[in-house]
Amino acid sequence: MRFFINPVWATVALLSLAVSTTAYAQATTGANTQKPMYLKTVMTQLNRDMQSVAGAISKEDWAEVAALAPKIASHQQPPMSEKMRILPWLGSNADKFRGFDEQVHRAATEMGEAAKRGDGQATINAFAKTQQSCLACHQNFRKPFVTHFYGK
Ligand code: HEC
Repeated sequence: MRFFINPVWATVALLSLAVSTTAYAQATTGANTQKPMYLKTVMTQLNRDMQSVAGAISKEDWAEVAALAPKIASHQQPPMSEKMRILPWLGSNADKFRGFDEQVHRAATEMGEAAKRGDGQATINAFAKTQQSCLACHQNFRKPFVTHFYGK
C-alpha cells in the first residue's frame, strides 16, 4: 500500500493535474496559440494610415488628411469569434480597453474636421492626441495581450 502514498507519485500526480488544468485553460480561452490575431492586421493598417497622415501633414495636404482620418476613426474590427476570445481575457478591463479605442475615434474625427477646415495647427494637435491614444492602450494592454495570446 505504500506505493499509493509514495510522495514522488503524489508529486507526479499533482504536476500532471496542474498541466492538464493549464492545457484546459488554454484551450478554453484560446491562449498561447501563436497564430497571429486579426487585431494585428487592424493595427498594421492603423500604423500605415497614421504614417500616411504624417506624410500628408508635412506636405500640408489637408484634403488628404481629411480623406485618411475616417479610416483611422472607423478602423476595422476583429471578427466576432476573435472578440469572444479577447473579451473574457479583458474581463473587468474591457471598458478601459474600449475607452482607449473611443479616444482614438474621437481624436481622429477631430483631426479630420480640422483638416477639412484647413486648420493646420488644430490638425497637428489632433494628430498628437490620436497618437497619444494609441500609446495609452499599448502601455496598458499590448504586452499582456502578446504574452497571453502568443505566449511570448
Ligand atoms: C484599444 C487598444 C489599442 C489601441 C487604441 C491601439 N492599439 Fe495598437 N495594439 C494593441 C494591441 C493589443 C496590440 C498587440 C496585437 C498583436 O500583437 O496581435 C497592438 C499592436 C500594434 C502594433 C504592432 C503590430 C505588430 O505587427 O506587432 C502597431 C504598429 C499598432 N498597434 C499601431 C497602433 C496605432 C497606430 C494605433 C492608433 C491609431 C493603435 N495601435 C491603437 C492595442 C491597441
